[in-house]
Amino acid sequence: MKARILGTGSCLPEHRLTNEDLAGLVDTSDAWIRERTGIEERRLSRRGTAWLASRAAEAALADAGLEAAQLDLILVGTMTPDEFCPSTACRVQEALGASQAVCLDVGAACSGFLYALATAQAYLAAGMARTALVVGAETLSRIVDWTDRSTCILFGDGAGAAVVQADETGILSVDLGCDGSRGSALTCPGVPLRNPAVSQGQEAGRDGEPSVLRMDGRAIFQFAVRTVPGTVRRALEKASLTEADISWFLFHQANRRILTAAARSLGIPMEKVPVNIGQTGNTAAASLPVLLDQLNRAGKLRRGDRLALAGFGAGLSWGSVVLEW
Ligand code: COA
Repeated sequence: MKARILGTGSCLPEHRLTNEDLAGLVDTSDAWIRERTGIEERRLSRRGTAWLASRAAEAALADAGLEAAQLDLILVGTMTPDEFCPSTACRVQEALGASQAVCLDVGAACSGFLYALATAQAYLAAGMARTALVVGAETLSRIVDWTDRSTCILFGDGAGAAVVQADETGILSVDLGCDGSRGSALTCPGVPLRNPAVSQGQEAGRDGEPSVLRMDGRAIFQFAVRTVPGTVRRALEKASLTEADISWFLFHQANRRILTAAARSLGIPMEKVPVNIGQTGNTAAASLPVLLDQLNRAGKLRRGDRLALAGFGAGLSWGSVVLEW
């Protein structure tokens, strides 16, 4: 049994933050941001991650023509939950009224949607679920350091979702990987350890460090340019397919220059690589499902088309999924 995508949905917040707006906050310019990243604007949310996730999920269910009660699994990839507990997936379940679903969040940062999709595939293949909702949702604006020009220009908020069901075709192959030894290239500290075993004034963990993103941009850039082509090639090989068999290559939208470098390395034309980073910025786990939904709603996907989805991010983590639409 394979997980086949039956419907997609997305939700981007209304508020747009342009590069010009950012130039009023930090020492940067529209020209620098466009040239170095391809980003023109990003969306900022006034609502939480679970709210965005629920709107994207409703749209995906409607697109699939299914009811919330038919879901038996809800997976949410996110690195910016509203709460430690309950999980965002449980909040989505409540919002949808999907009372039959098992719910869990998947923490794999920008690779989160692909990890969640692969987890859904495993549940379906094992017969543990038949119909799953897979969401990638973020409010990254809550962990962005708005005084750091090297990171605050990159990120945006949003959510995307896909409804998958067990079928004869669907996900053809998966390639996932992590390298924890390089984890410090992209971090966001949690709350420090505070309990009676910790002596006063010596909170364990990263004492006093704010919960904001810190990134070695160049290291991540080089990692991405090398990793994306490698993981796509491995997933294609597992599916016994070549680049020529793929109609669309959907890459995590982190930087336009990463997309063009990956396409060049794989020898694929940019016409097969949809790009929406100009309007969204990097929305981490939401990036791929939002892009997929936009492609789907633009009527560009035909049943039988083969798609390759690839992502990378904090962990460091990466992954690819090759699927038949
Ligand atoms: N505006 C203007 N100048 C900026 C700037 C900004 N927003 N951000 C950095 N700069 C400056 C730097 O201070 C540096 O100045 P210096 O040469 O005087 O020291 C110069 O621009 C070059 O910095 P550098 O970091 O080499 O730029 P870059 O070309 O590598 O671009 C990133 C920086 C962050 C855009 C790029 O490295 C990147 O996209 N990395 C990947 C990040 C990513 O994808 N993260 C998420 C993973 S899921």
